[in-house]
Amino acid sequence: MCGIFAYLNYLTPKSREEVLDLLVTGLKRLEYRGYDSTGVAIDGPDNKSIVMVKRTGKVKVLEDAIHENFSGGEYSEPVATHVGIAHTRWATHGVPCERNSHPQRSDEANSFVVVHNGIITNYNDVKTFLAKKGYEFESDTDTEVFAKLVHHLWKKHPNYSFRELVEQAIQQVEGAFAIAVKSKHFPGECVASRRSSPLLVAIKTKTRLATDHIPILYGKDAESGKPQVLPRSDSTSEFMPLEEKEVEYFFASDASAVIEHTNRVIYLEDDDVAAVRDGTLSIHRLKKSLDDPHAREITTLKMEIQQIMKGNFDYFMQKEIFEQPESVVNTMRGRVRFDSNSIVLGGIKDYIPEIKRCRRLMLIGCGTSYHSAVATRQLLEELTELPVMVELASDFLDRNTPIFRDDVCFFISQSGETADTLMALRYCKQRGALIVGITNTVGSSICRESHCGVHINAGPEIGVASTKAYTSQFISLVMFALVMSEDRLSLQQRRLEILQALSKLGDQIREVLKLDSKVQELAKDLYQHKSLLIMGRGYNFATCLEGALKVKELTYMHSEGIMAGELKHGPLALVDDSMPVMMIVLRDPVYVKCMNALQQVTSRKGCPIIICEEGDEETKAFSARNLEIPRTVDCLQGILTVIPMQLLSYHIAVLRGCDVDCPRNLAKSVTVE
Ligand code: F6R
Repeated sequence: MCGIFAYLNYLTPKSREEVLDLLVTGLKRLEYRGYDSTGVAIDGPDNKSIVMVKRTGKVKVLEDAIHENFSGGEYSEPVATHVGIAHTRWATHGVPCERNSHPQRSDEANSFVVVHNGIITNYNDVKTFLAKKGYEFESDTDTEVFAKLVHHLWKKHPNYSFRELVEQAIQQVEGAFAIAVKSKHFPGECVASRRSSPLLVAIKTKTRLATDHIPILYGKDAESGKPQVLPRSDSTSEFMPLEEKEVEYFFASDASAVIEHTNRVIYLEDDDVAAVRDGTLSIHRLKKSLDDPHAREITTLKMEIQQIMKGNFDYFMQKEIFEQPESVVNTMRGRVRFDSNSIVLGGIKDYIPEIKRCRRLMLIGCGTSYHSAVATRQLLEELTELPVMVELASDFLDRNTPIFRDDVCFFISQSGETADTLMALRYCKQRGALIVGITNTVGSSICRESHCGVHINAGPEIGVASTKAYTSQFISLVMFALVMSEDRLSLQQRRLEILQALSKLGDQIREVLKLDSKVQELAKDLYQHKSLLIMGRGYNFATCLEGALKVKELTYMHSEGIMAGELKHGPLALVDDSMPVMMIVLRDPVYVKCMNALQQVTSRKGCPIIICEEGDEETKAFSARNLEIPRTVDCLQGILTVIPMQLLSYHIAVLRGCDVDCPRNLAKSVTVE
């Protein structure tokens, strides 16, 4: 959903070439957020102008254009202080083309240039206002109004600082944004702000930072003189703004873009305005509310650079599929004690008594994250003995679903930034429900706005199609169900069975991954078909939905996850001798019913590919081809059955020549509703 990246070096000489390289590398890390078009803006060699390069397509196209046109000569001379802003776009307003690419500008002289992630919902009103003032618009984007609005304010208030101009502008726009602004009138300065879209500031200094906090300045200094620096009440030490002599700053949509430079970051909050001037970073807010802190913490990222590199794999998705033996174990690490059969979820343990008293559990998410809720609902119902509702965030909001103070609402999101899920969270929070976040991204909006939660600890997921986050979300919800049933005597046997199965899961996933070459062969048979039906029921219905989603988004083939019980109510009409059908038939309580469905398919000349348990000859006898997976407890089967589906969609995508990590029209973090 668009990635923004900005870089500022203060007294740390870099050539424009180097700055451009840095911006391009930052964009490559953020490419999963959108890849319709890209652009950068840097200072021109005369230091009085701004040069922009924009291209339709992926970052590579921009990189080639930069190497061709902006190398050598003046571009290789070192400059002490420099500001560059960059963007990779997932189009919302206006088709992907250079004109609609970011940075967007205020005027032909490039006085103010802006990169933006989000949607300015009142852009039409602002546009009409500015058009009356004589502004002519050159793009179809909502972002352009922001650049022109800042320019208009600059003409109106020539004494305002750069930060004040941006601050005034954000008061007048509605919707979601993370922005970074650069101006030829304020060289060496960069101003950034966010509302509902993620943005962080990263700081790189030669020596250790002298502070762990950046104070927040409040008030309107344009009207009332200097901004107020509030003293911290719980300490005698004074806060000093960051005044390192030689410093580099990065503004980025997420941490993967900065980790190779520094691990010191500040996650900005909604309506924070972060400005760098004379090498000093300040964070400003117009109004102070009662519970506002006095400073933003500089946190240390735990991420490692290797986690965001492909290593020996061809694609990030492939790497992430193969990481699952470790990622599921990381989700359980420090939480599940197999020796004592106990589980502690540190992020929610203080809330467990309150959760046990609730009226119902609501599990809310989108896409793959929603499927993890479908996958674990049955176990949650069984082990919590509470009603469990599973909701797609967008539909939940459309219905104005009634929510009560004694509801506990789980928001499941890999990115922690999905707009639909975040809106649903705010809706439930306003109504007094307890909010539990299940996210993979530390510092994300969902993480910060939840009362409590579980980090799934799957590690960064870069491939646009979610794989390892799904299995880790699944495990997190299973762990929660186990915590909820800790004191139920009647459930101890069942809990034990699940805990034992969890202890074997990493190795069993390794076994399933050995099917890779068999799945690749299967993909060769399937990749030229138009459609693929995936059937199952009970604990494996979620795998059908998730498998079909993976096939659709990666291969652009039609695919449908079908509840086997529903087959005879319509979908059976699709089955004939040419329609590819996959069926999940495992030895669990719905085995007999699955076999009925299987026979309904074979008697219509269907030739199903079956995912079954190792050595289950009876079931295999009904299949055209089969994939055998190790036996596990019923409620964890979904982890093992989804992996062949992930591999299958991956191989079909490769065979069809699709871009595995960046499927068309999609982006990883969907920060618009
Ligand atoms: C599919 C996929 C999407 C996401 C969905 C929610 O492979 O990745 O369906 O699951 O956009 O994203 P998060 O989990 O970040 O809220």
